[in-house]
Amino acid sequence: MNRQSRVIGAEHVSMAQRAGKQALEIMAGDIVTDLARETAHRLGINLLNGPLERPAIARTDGSKQMMRGLYRRSPHWIDPRKGKVIGKATRLKKLGLIGAGGVGANIAHLAANGDMVDEIALVDIVPGLAESVAMDLNHASGINGSKARASGGMELSAIAGSDVVIVTAGRARSPGMSRSDLININARVIRSAAEAIRSHAPNAIVIVVTNPLDEMTFEMLKATGLPREKVLGMAGTLDSSRFRNALARTANVNPSDVEAITLGSHGDEMAPIVSKAKIKGRPVSLYLSKDQIDACVRDAVTGGGQVVALRKTGSATLAPAHASIELVEHIRGAKAGAVPVSVMLDGEYGIEGVVLGVPCHLGINGIVSVEELTLSPDELAALKAAADAIKKRLGV
Ligand code: LAC
Repeated sequence: MNRQSRVIGAEHVSMAQRAGKQALEIMAGDIVTDLARETAHRLGINLLNGPLERPAIARTDGSKQMMRGLYRRSPHWIDPRKGKVIGKATRLKKLGLIGAGGVGANIAHLAANGDMVDEIALVDIVPGLAESVAMDLNHASGINGSKARASGGMELSAIAGSDVVIVTAGRARSPGMSRSDLININARVIRSAAEAIRSHAPNAIVIVVTNPLDEMTFEMLKATGLPREKVLGMAGTLDSSRFRNALARTANVNPSDVEAITLGSHGDEMAPIVSKAKIKGRPVSLYLSKDQIDACVRDAVTGGGQVVALRKTGSATLAPAHASIELVEHIRGAKAGAVPVSVMLDGEYGIEGVVLGVPCHLGINGIVSVEELTLSPDELAALKAAADAIKKRLGV
């Protein structure tokens, strides 16, 4: 009998990776898309010409199977696939940082320590700031052995040739301000950063961190004219980390035992996705009461504001820097799986024409695919409400 030939797309490769496979069998006549090949390369999945020899079925006795089942249910068991770090990461040639304040400086520090890039270029309008951060970082290389060379200055042209540009420049909130109060001030900053990216680093992937995040990512997309795959807003990785921290502390488990994401806007319309949140692979509702979960949601939504209220002269720096580096790790293929990122939607989740936080698979060219999770009706409504609120603020 003739078998039907299949079209193997990126989603088949991602599915194989999620199922813990290292290879995907390609039969004669199958069509493999370019995106599937790129995804396979990025995720370290081998595309092998089939039919492959099948190993004999391993037979185990019932008592061994029972022991395995019980072991997986133990509170000490952690899904071995979680947070998978893969071996074939690309080392970046140059990381451009527009903004050398608290977030920019910490990103530079993490990038240098993480041995992921040859050159780090920092730019800031405050005289001497970017240069001093770069010098300070280079001074540490005699101890940490970092190979990355940092440079700093006031000229935006210093980002020329960057593979990734991260924009943190702009005013931060003061206590009592919402992120959206910064819209007009920071849009100007984003437009000048966009002009520099267009002229000096047109092939870069741009990560926007400046607030209000979703609106500024929209502005960056418009002002650079880059495709949506190349312009990402960093917020979901930060908000998700805050959500996981709150759940882990409340349930008294390690943060690495918690899987949870937040989608939607990086603001009041944030949507922490409780239906998908898990502790040790099991629903959070088995560990925490509804009130406790609600408190964790509030903690994620207000986390940034809590830091601003305490600090008084600026916003968080450490967690936002880690969350930005998390995106770089996914871009260069050091980490796999979907991460929440703000992107221009094109019909996904029934939303289009607005930038919003959704789970995405990333690669060296930016977004590989947007993952559409099955959300509860309330969560989907929250996502749509976030989209409407952002559209209103942008006047689109
Ligand atoms: C925060 C800022 C960076 O959430 O938006 O901390």
